Amino acid sequence: MNVASLIATSVHTVVAVLWVGGIFLAYRVLRPAAMQLQPPQRLTLWVDVFSRFFPWVWGFIIALVISGYWDWNVRFGGYESAPIYLHAMQLIGWLMIFLFAWLYFVPFAKFKALVADQQFPEAGKVMNEKMRPVIAINLTLGVLEAIIGASGPFW
Ligand code: HEM
Repeated sequence: MNVASLIATSVHTVVAVLWVGGIFLAYRVLRPAAMQLQPPQRLTLWVDVFSRFFPWVWGFIIALVISGYWDWNVRFGGYESAPIYLHAMQLIGWLMIFLFAWLYFVPFAKFKALVADQQFPEAGKVMNEKMRPVIAINLTLGVLEAIIGASGPFW
């Protein structure tokens, strides 16, 4: 394995850990802990949390895609000859990216605007009905990606 592949694999693993770990913290730890706050404080906190985390996620996505396809090309060569688990990784990866982009540009933009307007019941509704399910799905898909990435070579 050459140095570029070592770097690509390391970058890929680290940013995957940071992205999925960040979702886990938000969904499984911060969400229940923040329930003790009143809606105005809680929803304002979420705007702040997401406004800090989401720019990182864009960076993670760029790094994952570049390192993933780099590694794919260098170590596995052609598209058709690649093992099935790489196709699964790519498909689920793009699904995660698409879901995140939708979350960012549609419900999160709305959520931020509603909180800025102090329309807290409506903002809470967007958070619960639109954002939360997507975050839960991406957490599951992220865990699945880690399983595929780690176990795929042994399939
Ligand atoms: C979207 C396009 C993606 C491509 C083209 C891609 C490609 C790859 C490749 C080529 C490997 C190495 C497999 C091996 O060593 O046999 C890999 C591994 C891995 N991928 Fe991805 N991947 C993508 C997205 C993602 C995403 C979104 C995540 C998680 C958030 C992820 C998590 C992992 C993990 C944890 C590994 C195992 C460790 C490693 O080899 O880096 N990948 N991926």
